[in-house]
Amino acid sequence: MAEVVIVDSPETGGAIAADLVERLVRVRPGAVLGLATGSSPLPLWRALAGRGLDLSWVRGFALDEYLGLPPGHPESYRAVLEREVVVPLGLDPERVRVPGQGLEGAGLAGAGEDYEGRLAAAGGVDLQVLGIGRTGHLGFNEPGSSFASRTRVKLLAELTRRDNARFFGGDVDRVPTHCITQGIGTILEARRLVLLAWGEDKAEALAAAVEGPLTASVPASAIQLHPEVTVIADEAAASRLANAAYYRESWARRPDWAR
Ligand code: F6R
Repeated sequence: MAEVVIVDSPETGGAIAADLVERLVRVRPGAVLGLATGSSPLPLWRALAGRGLDLSWVRGFALDEYLGLPPGHPESYRAVLEREVVVPLGLDPERVRVPGQGLEGAGLAGAGEDYEGRLAAAGGVDLQVLGIGRTGHLGFNEPGSSFASRTRVKLLAELTRRDNARFFGGDVDRVPTHCITQGIGTILEARRLVLLAWGEDKAEALAAAVEGPLTASVPASAIQLHPEVTVIADEAAASRLANAAYYRESWARRPDWAR
């Protein structure tokens, strides 16, 4: 079962997630981080940036990238990561990869395999940061994605495109229709998963992921198959969790050595 930490605010949650990253990087300066984009990881990046750590040896692998945006588009995940993670945290941009990077057209046919090869050559992901979509997606693995899926091109769900229209001036027609995303099987190979969820909008998907049946219809339910998962959610996102009282007690009474 995932460890579920229910916090009073995204800021508190971001600080707890930053503790996990800090602990990892102190023992492994060249750790491999799996990077989610979007709003959910922002409190983590803010907390980490304030700690004055040397993260210049860290290697980063993005979860996903839109397809069809012109190079350098400010909402491409390469650009978002540059702006929200690489610069504020002092990462080396050369050590950060995005799937499909530098490839287009027919070149994208081999992009999934290429990315998997790079992940493997880096020794795999030590800690994967995740958000969850209202569709129940992880990365851009929309409902129906196999738990065995690998990095590949996918069609975005209509709801995801509507949710992400806020990054494209509110115009859903400007949100790309396709993306390249790590698969659920790829994500499950990370040594640790840290899933962040804030706000009422995420409550239903989070409850289905953490406590619902394992099903490709809720791709995020695959986290139940992983032995090292920390879910950090604020009260609103945690509001549909049936076992919330147990999670709170378990966190409050965690042994000293686990603090
Ligand atoms: C982003 C990603 C997505 C988001 C999810 C939640 O790289 O893979 O799974 O994490 O759509 O998005 P936000 O955090 O913007 O609510």
